Amino acid sequence: MSSWKTSLLCTAFEPRQFPPEGFPEIAIAGRSNVGKSSLLNALIGQKTAHVSSKPGKTRSINFFRVETEIPFHLVDLPGYGFASRSKTEQEVWKRLIERYLVNRESLALIVHLVDFRHGLLKNDRELQDWVSSMEIPMLTVFTKIDKIARGKRKGELVKYVKSGLKSIDMPILTSAEDKTGIDELRGFFGSYLAE
Ligand code: GTP
Ligand code: MG
Repeated sequence: MSSWKTSLLCTAFEPRQFPPEGFPEIAIAGRSNVGKSSLLNALIGQKTAHVSSKPGKTRSINFFRVETEIPFHLVDLPGYGFASRSKTEQEVWKRLIERYLVNRESLALIVHLVDFRHGLLKNDRELQDWVSSMEIPMLTVFTKIDKIARGKRKGELVKYVKSGLKSIDMPILTSAEDKTGIDELRGFFGSYLAE
């Protein structure tokens, strides 16, 4: 499976712009700059989501329609923890994400991206606690693993798992740069949606 047939369905700055409920949704969440849009592009095999070295690039919730055996929506959420953004902007972000996560019936899975170099930081743990308090299934996926030498990856993973991360399955290690783990993640989505 080298790419999926995908299209950008909708860009929402407010809840009333969310597409109608129906198709199962897999939402990609994580700190600003962790690589959400890059991973999404790698998954869909197109450069559709905006990638930037400046944190805080994605400000809207972007819904992508994916045509696989079981059609679903991939949802690119704006990143959190971008400190230099104004308080008002952070509040607007929080309200938009909250409205999506709290009320969305079609939300099947949250994929929580964590930078493999840093592990879970304070606001990552806050997100994990919040998501599990709402009983939304969540898979932890590490990004940018190309930045860590192969021989060190297993040890780092064991350390992170022991430190208590929340994930419905073993975390997947990915790189949007060299495409490690992308097929594995696609396969995970396929079997998860088929359950
Ligand atoms: P926001 O939209 O601001 O929340 O950021 P984002 O999480 O969507 O991150 P984005 O995909 O825009 O990537 C941020 C930066 O990290 C860019 O410079 C990317 O090129 C880089 N990056 C993303 N994924 C990888 C990866 O797997 N490996 C490496 N080396 N760099 C990556
Ligand atoms: Mg982004």
